[in-house]
Amino acid sequence: MTVLTSALDASGAEYAEARRQMLDRIAELDAELAKSVAGGGEKYTERHRRRGKLLARERIELLLDPDTPFLELSPLAGWGSDYTVGASLVTGIGVVEGVECLITANDPTVRGGASNPWTLRKALRANEIAFANRLPCISLVESGGADLPSQKEIFIPGGALFRDLTRLSEAGIPTVAVVFGNSTAGGAYVPGMSDHVIMVKEQSKVFLGGPPLVKMATGEEAGDEELGGADMHTRVSGLGDYFALDEPDALRQARRVVSRINWRKAHGTRAGALAPPKYDEDELLGVVPGDLKTPFDPREVVARVVDGSDFDEFKPRYGTSLVTGWARLHGYPLGVLANARGVLFSEESQKATQFIQLANQRDIPLLFLHNTTGYMVGKEYEQGGIIKHGAMMINAVSNSKVPHLSVLMGASYGAGHYGMCGRAYDPRFLFAWPSAKSAVMGPQQLAGVMSIVMRESAAAKGKPFDEEADAGLRAMVEQQIESESLPMFLSGRLYDDGVIDPRDTRTVLGLCLSAIHTAPVEGARGGFGVFRM
Ligand code: COA
Repeated sequence: MTVLTSALDASGAEYAEARRQMLDRIAELDAELAKSVAGGGEKYTERHRRRGKLLARERIELLLDPDTPFLELSPLAGWGSDYTVGASLVTGIGVVEGVECLITANDPTVRGGASNPWTLRKALRANEIAFANRLPCISLVESGGADLPSQKEIFIPGGALFRDLTRLSEAGIPTVAVVFGNSTAGGAYVPGMSDHVIMVKEQSKVFLGGPPLVKMATGEEAGDEELGGADMHTRVSGLGDYFALDEPDALRQARRVVSRINWRKAHGTRAGALAPPKYDEDELLGVVPGDLKTPFDPREVVARVVDGSDFDEFKPRYGTSLVTGWARLHGYPLGVLANARGVLFSEESQKATQFIQLANQRDIPLLFLHNTTGYMVGKEYEQGGIIKHGAMMINAVSNSKVPHLSVLMGASYGAGHYGMCGRAYDPRFLFAWPSAKSAVMGPQQLAGVMSIVMRESAAAKGKPFDEEADAGLRAMVEQQIESESLPMFLSGRLYDDGVIDPRDTRTVLGLCLSAIHTAPVEGARGGFGVFRM
């Protein structure tokens, strides 16, 4: 009864053009992701291998259960900055001995694995995810510590990394550090604050000050091994719990540690049989038109993402530019809110508020599928109370306690980004499709508004308005805002958890929902602020 039908014409010209544009964008995305995987490049990778060491991703692969997926997070961190794409750190969620863990691994091929401002933001985001979802944390450590030239950006806020480790521990979330190389100065507090520590023979170097610093400070002559080697720490200082003969041995021991943490998810098994969508996920490539001004029906997306394409729509006849309804995804119950025609009106806001309250009463996670230009403006709408109705929706999103997932499919502009649970509203996970765009408003609108403001300012001062300069400025502003709205730029700044191929949406959301259910899912009962009626 509630299985969606599809009106997508996969043999039509519009579909073909949308698909072509999406594939171009995916190719661009893949090229940037390849930079992240390449890390410090051939020279530093070769040197690392000559030293008999494994790369960050190889370490992760050996740690994980064979043939299980790894949901990499923030792979484009630092994109568009002076730092290497990926920010010298790999983070993600993977399964170790059947336990979903949050894994971080320094990439020592990028400036010795040193942490720059983007590395810090990425690491802090990973900790946030571990906290919210109660995921045990495994740090695969080999880092030159703070990136010294950018120390002013990271030294003071960077203390949060070590604070988080002990707070995770306090919350009963296990933390494991495996030290493959340098972990000195501040970095020494990663093993220092972790519940379990594994060190590698003749590789781990864990000291507050290395030989030159000790010589400078006290005049004492000491070598790496006696100051901070694995042998010393596991026999003498007691900082290391386990002594590993080599890297694979260390990873094997990490797996053994996880196998004994007696970990139990809050929600063990998912309810219901798992039915794939009735429609081909591949067709998600052609749903979003190249020009975001052209509307599209988000039910075509829902039909290719949720179990059995079964979607029980809530209030289908009311506030129709926001689609809301109940579904399951990989067996997990889910409430979906999806923008249909871009603009949010008062009715859509009220419908969203009611729907969010219902999900909270029933402990059902919510998925927000973004394609919105924001809340409607104009006399009629202001007089109709669009501000208080938008505020109502934003209140509901802010105070909702069920886990939220956000996917930016197309536009995500203005307060619409907020109402649809944008980054600042703490969705458990937020991903963007390559077709997404997000900014305070569209580039043309923003440039136009600026031009009107400048024209009025010139008139108020009685100055002439230079039309030619204005046209040039408008074009420049438009271009700037356009480039700042694109997913790779936003992902580089950690405003999402990754840009994903639309075809992977169901898999990515399924992995997220499974991770989310490690922690109890409990909605707010009441507990919202004052709703303006
Ligand atoms: N900040 C900025 N750049 C750093 C860095 C740091 N903390 N650590 C290393 N780098 C750079 C190096 O300058 C070098 O750059 P280059 O190749 O362009 O010359 C590159 O990263 C690789 O470093 P290198 O020393 O050749 O690598 P290594 O693998 O032999 O040694 C370390 C790695 C981390 C042991 C060593 O670089 C080191 O001791 N760094 C300083 C550590 C430190 O004191 N950090 C401060 C702690 S708060």
